Amino acid sequence: MRSKRKNPFVRLCSVMAGIVLLCAVYHPAFAAQAEKPSKWWQKTIAYEIYVKSFKDSDGDGTGDLRGILSELDHLKNLGVGAIWLTPCFVSPQKDNGYDVANYYDIDPAYGSMEDMENLIEEAKKRKIRIVLDLVFNHTSNENEWFQESRSGRDNEKSDWYIWKDPGKDGNAPNNWRSIFGGSAWTYDEERGQYYLHTFLPEQPDLNWANPEVRRALIDVADFWVEKGVGGFRLDAITYIRKPEDFSDGKPDAGDGTVGIHAMTANTDGILDYLGEFKAAVQDGTDIFTVGEANGVSADELPEWVGPDGVFDMVFEFSHVSIDVADEMNWCKTRSWTLPELKACFTASQKTTESTGGWYPVFLENHDQPRSISHFLPEGADRVAGGKALATLVLTMRGTPFIMEGEELGFVNVSWDDIEDYQDISTRNHYQFALDEGYSEEEAMEGVHHFARDSARTPMQWDQSENAGFTEGTPWLPVYEDYSVYNVDSEMADPKSVLNWYLTLSRLRGEHEELVTGSYEELFHDDEQIFAYTREKDDKKAVILINFSAQEASYDDACIEGARLLLSTNENNVKGRLAPFEAAIYQAAA
Ligand code: GLC
Repeated sequence: MRSKRKNPFVRLCSVMAGIVLLCAVYHPAFAAQAEKPSKWWQKTIAYEIYVKSFKDSDGDGTGDLRGILSELDHLKNLGVGAIWLTPCFVSPQKDNGYDVANYYDIDPAYGSMEDMENLIEEAKKRKIRIVLDLVFNHTSNENEWFQESRSGRDNEKSDWYIWKDPGKDGNAPNNWRSIFGGSAWTYDEERGQYYLHTFLPEQPDLNWANPEVRRALIDVADFWVEKGVGGFRLDAITYIRKPEDFSDGKPDAGDGTVGIHAMTANTDGILDYLGEFKAAVQDGTDIFTVGEANGVSADELPEWVGPDGVFDMVFEFSHVSIDVADEMNWCKTRSWTLPELKACFTASQKTTESTGGWYPVFLENHDQPRSISHFLPEGADRVAGGKALATLVLTMRGTPFIMEGEELGFVNVSWDDIEDYQDISTRNHYQFALDEGYSEEEAMEGVHHFARDSARTPMQWDQSENAGFTEGTPWLPVYEDYSVYNVDSEMADPKSVLNWYLTLSRLRGEHEELVTGSYEELFHDDEQIFAYTREKDDKKAVILINFSAQEASYDDACIEGARLLLSTNENNVKGRLAPFEAAIYQAAA
């Protein structure tokens, strides 16, 4: 999902980069940054598993929990201490599990409760914690809570969802458009009213204004804390509080609709709900929470993740949305420059650092394009490029979040036929483009750039058929490059992207300045190089990454007397970077 409202990142990031330094000096929580990271999740690396695509143990073509269990050692090798599993609760799978029919059980396609308990235990033996994805803005329409709610206007759960009478002429109550396209309202015959859905009609929004709903969700989270999970990702959490005003918004599309994001994201009062959730679920435990906070800008981060924030971390999207011109219209992209991308990171890094908050460093997730395709010039060398981006993710301040396959250097798929894409949102965006008058070729170009399927193709384990993902027919085709880009082959190649991840992961473990050290950007206006320092006590690392396919030069005063710790280029020279070279120096602080 991409942010539009409150995502004028250019304005925001440049203002932030300036004021954050000032705030840092005066903020009462400033002292917190000097402390050691006391929490296990600050020192570790997190890894996202798209459960459906990671490893299939029973040959049905769909990944499952036993499959994950069989590959824990790969993650251990990478230095992973937290695995974020995409939702594996009972679900009709209209949005691959982000439509939950029963939060208290595992979808049979993924295994059983016993499989989950085993996974939690076996992971713990390897010092890895399982993190679940709680989809609490909405449920599936097949959830029994919704079934009861829709059955009439006077049942016990009648107020658990957002119901409204039809507007004039029996139409939807307002002109809001769902994030996946189409009206955000669906009429329910049984109840004789419309219900609101931020996403698909099969994903009705819960009514968080009702204390019984909030209690029920706290009970779900408590149930999983009891099972021993290490934390939660809170899905689409910025949409939970609806505004008082349900009137029409100013249209932003030819059909007179307005994207719901602009009407409901991050509504005043949302922090009260989240504070209540935190106190009830988290206090007294060692779990962490990370919110999917689309619509929260870098300057708001202190309230969300500061020492008294409602989450330990939030995913903030200014950097991944840098090329988004219109969240619904994938044919319109925005061109961007490296200094703009740097400004996004610097704003988040400095805001969280200066206020004692923490940050999940990420370039990819299951909703985003692959980072090599997203942030590097077309035709970029995948191996060199993948290593350059890995260096960024593993040397910034915060907990790195790696998306499955990112450690192998995966790139976007570009299938020719829209029918090859399984993701419903991708298909809807394609249709929206056609409805807006774009040609099929133009609409497909948008799909090639933004489709969520690119991040969801099966994991590639070895050179065998289907890359060792399944012995059956994979639910989504394995990417054709699998004979080169797979775990086995990359483990055997010292120059692979995977081996670079292993090296960086070890380095991070040995250099605390790379985990908690302060961050300072260098050479901000440089269009090729992303450079910064990480400093703690008497240790200082200087990180230099060439984002371009051309050699780049820089003023090497910043590394005078410094020792090279690592470079992707064995012929590294001070003052110059080869195309996509990443180098880390250790300087005296
Ligand atoms: C979040 C998820 C996305 C899902 C949506 C609806 O944005 O990351 O995959 O489709 O919420 O639950």
